[in-house]
Amino acid sequence: MTIDGPAGAGKSTVARRLARRLGYRLLDTGAIYRAVALGALRGGVAMDDEPALAALARALDIDFAFEGDVNRVLLGGEDVTAAIRTPDASQAASKVSAWPAVRAALLELQRRLGGRGGVVVEGRDTGTVVFPDAGAKFFLTASGEVRAQRRLEELAAAGKSVGFDDTLAEIHERDSRDASRDVAPMRAADDAVLVDSSQMTLDQVIDAIENEVRARAG
Ligand code: DC
Repeated sequence: MTIDGPAGAGKSTVARRLARRLGYRLLDTGAIYRAVALGALRGGVAMDDEPALAALARALDIDFAFEGDVNRVLLGGEDVTAAIRTPDASQAASKVSAWPAVRAALLELQRRLGGRGGVVVEGRDTGTVVFPDAGAKFFLTASGEVRAQRRLEELAAAGKSVGFDDTLAEIHERDSRDASRDVAPMRAADDAVLVDSSQMTLDQVIDAIENEVRARAG
């Protein structure tokens, strides 16, 4: 099953908890783009150098390791779970992901990691491009203000304080870049169930999606 949607809609938390409830594996495709972005930032690769970014993507040595509730991301064996979540890494991930050669390089990797079924895949194009035949697809969204507020609380919990206006502006910037790129833009698949979580609690969202998945599985 796939969950796509904009930044801050709650995809990661929902996907993680659904995977646990359903006994499915979890594939966070955003973490893959973030890992490429981190490699580029560290290596001084320019965000407009498509061939160099694609080479990084092809050589990406990424691994996931579940530790309790945390989905750890390992890049070349190094734990980069926190490093890929900074605001800089978020914007860089959105930029590298706009290049067709980068997306092409990561397509096979995602299909290999998520291809055997029994998996919750989350991202922007997982229901439209990566797994068009997924058994259940969801597009999870919420208003920009609600998403900015949630992001603020998430960062505050991690000991970082940022302003609401800056966070909202970043979210809008990333949304419009992710939705307007030429290749695999963020959009709901025609057969996706739309879930607007603006007025829903996390548990309500998870219950709604779980019920739908179980109903389809018969
Ligand atoms: O879901 P996330 O915030 O971790 O994703 C980071 C960036 O990666 C996002 O701004 C766009 C890109 N991305 C993508 O283009 N396609 C995906 N399937 C997942 C993420």
